[in-house]
Amino acid sequence: MGVKLLLEKAHVEGIRTFEVYRREGGYRGVEKVFKTMSPDAVVEEVKKSGLRGRGGAGFPAGMKWSFIAKPEGVPRHLVCNADESEPGTFKDRYLMENLPHLLIEGLIISSFALGSNATYIYIRGEYAWIPDILEHAIAEAKANGFLGKNILGSGFDLEIYVQRGAGAYICGEETALIESLEGKRGNPRIKPPFPAIKGVWERPTVVNNVETLAAVVPIINMGGDEYAKIGVGKSTGTKLISACGNINKPGVYEIDMTISVEDFIYSDEYCGGIANGKRLKACIPGGSSVPILPANLLFKTAKGETRYMNYESLSDGGFATGSMMGSGGFIVLDEDQSVVRNTYTLARFYRHESCGQCSPCREGTGWMEKLLKRLLEGKGKISDIDLLWDIQRKIEGNTICPLGDAAAWPVAAAIRHFRDEFEWYVNNPVESQTRNYGLAHY
Ligand code: NAI
Ligand code: SF4
Repeated sequence: MGVKLLLEKAHVEGIRTFEVYRREGGYRGVEKVFKTMSPDAVVEEVKKSGLRGRGGAGFPAGMKWSFIAKPEGVPRHLVCNADESEPGTFKDRYLMENLPHLLIEGLIISSFALGSNATYIYIRGEYAWIPDILEHAIAEAKANGFLGKNILGSGFDLEIYVQRGAGAYICGEETALIESLEGKRGNPRIKPPFPAIKGVWERPTVVNNVETLAAVVPIINMGGDEYAKIGVGKSTGTKLISACGNINKPGVYEIDMTISVEDFIYSDEYCGGIANGKRLKACIPGGSSVPILPANLLFKTAKGETRYMNYESLSDGGFATGSMMGSGGFIVLDEDQSVVRNTYTLARFYRHESCGQCSPCREGTGWMEKLLKRLLEGKGKISDIDLLWDIQRKIEGNTICPLGDAAAWPVAAAIRHFRDEFEWYVNNPVESQTRNYGLAHY
């Protein structure tokens, strides 16, 4: 069994309640911080831990915290990004549903470190049942003196507010989230200025993902140096992976980032192999925004080295032969799946979720969706594949926020690795209307 820092207690009966969480050692981190540490010392521990943002970008969390501006007399805020909407990603949902007090504890410690007296959890609208779980946990923490005025006699005050989103993927982008939190339409802002300088109501704001903030608890309990010993290289600590697709055991797993991709897929502790005895065709290892990898590049890098489930190894080879860790949404495709159909589904999603501010994203996502649909319907031409390639290149890097890139990368990787499959749809117009490429091809 791998190291479990976040999910160790997830199956303890009643762990959602304050009483059981506390009995199991919960809120020790808060006590340690208020009794023995200064805010700067907490930031230092998080820096030492090497913790990287778990929402997808992997930006060093301690560094982000140290960027927060501290103008005299201006309140600062921490915002927990619980707008988990990346297709294939459901690990934050699992954390919030099962261990709400772990998140609240992480928020208290992080708010203290950043000097936030009003902290927000922005949660996606589709997670309709989770705000009640969080609000109940917040009320319990408050009733027991861990929230509100003068927490544990420290002189530090904190309120945590839960803000429900309305179901827009773009509101997971931090500046769109901030706009939405302010009561406006969730349009991303141009960065810089980064939220750490000008965030909610133009105040210095740190936006961190749910898993990142929960990870602060074990970091404080064990110390940043000890945390950094787990994992490998710049992939320290543990990472939650939501595994789905054609595997025997879909679910949320905590890994220590030293496990190989092959072991993760085939070991009984994790995915348990490909479902129905099928062969593996491809995998999107880090949520829908990251490049798809064909089976031959999944277990070994282009250099012939074992590929591991961590930031460096998954991105080894860049986009030509590698992918990204992203949000940890691990989507497995078996031999019967059509990469063209999968890419179309994603293109439709991104077209629907584009906020429409930038022309390359607003127009380009629609074009890509239409071209992919045309190919699937057996009405495509070889030149459509080249046009798709051209459009994605014109979107990438030319938009305000990463949604444009996220829409472009899956198309680019699919054509790069599976061009023969795209051509099959052109060359087999009758079959393509009735059968998936995978079924017809193998
Ligand atoms: P980013 O790389 O622009 O930013 C990372 C973080 O570092 C941000 O909070 C940013 O404010 C901060 N930062 C970077 N440079 C800074 C500086 N000089 N000063 C102060 N702060 C700085 O990436 P972003 O937009 O936060 O995330 C993109 C990723 O999110 C994608 O790659 C994708 O994997 C992931 N994603 C995850 C989703 C989910 O549901 N979990 C949904 C969609 C995308
Ligand atoms: Fe909106 Fe797309 Fe531009 Fe992002 S890239 S700001 S989603 S139009």
